[in-house]
Amino acid sequence: MQRREFIRACAAGLAAAGAAHGAQAAGEATPRLYPRARLVDAQGKPLRAAQLPAQRNLIFHYPYQSTPCFLLNLGRPVTGAATLQTADRRSYEWKGGVGAGRSIVAYSAICAHQLAYPTREISFISFRAEASARNKHAQVIHCCAEHSQYDPAAGARVLAGPAPQPLAAILLEHDAKTDQLSAVGTLGGEMFNQFFAKYEFKLAMEHGGATRAAAGGEARVTELDHYCRQQVRC
Ligand code: FES
Repeated sequence: MQRREFIRACAAGLAAAGAAHGAQAAGEATPRLYPRARLVDAQGKPLRAAQLPAQRNLIFHYPYQSTPCFLLNLGRPVTGAATLQTADRRSYEWKGGVGAGRSIVAYSAICAHQLAYPTREISFISFRAEASARNKHAQVIHCCAEHSQYDPAAGARVLAGPAPQPLAAILLEHDAKTDQLSAVGTLGGEMFNQFFAKYEFKLAMEHGGATRAAAGGEARVTELDHYCRQQVRC
């Protein structure tokens, strides 16, 4: 365990977990730890942080088999912390990227506005490296449903649009010796209960009834281009 480089948010989460009840009463959103899932590639081999292409949309499912997340190598160090707030006014601090270059971040891909998410057929939400006619911000996660935009270098802070809170951050653990990555929890405003309620039938069709099944010990990472047939651009 001493070999592992935990992101500070994760360390803070472990420390805070024991005091979660008191912290919530004080208006803080404490990290929520889930069973660890090692990130693996399309062949099932452990993914190494150095393999991750910069500024590409990668997707995996965590902490449930049906809940999509973005894995992003932003291509630059993300070392600054961000103080954020959930829609119900609980504050929390996101501590930055992981990996040797501190450039790797992960977020729930469920839009905090009305829960748009990447399916096999279509995705309205993705990371955009470039600005566009409808998107004056570059380097954002943009949801084309109603144009919520999130800053992945600042804990997915809302930059524009109707989203009432940041995307929930996925807590990553990076093993400095093996360069492997694992997902271990979430930080911020989870939308999973609303997501399951809204899309219960659809998710059952997409995931063979395993909607609320845990991701398991491994989470397969794929390019969004390969996962999803059509990406809406805006
Ligand atoms: S669902 Fe994403 S902006 Fe409305």
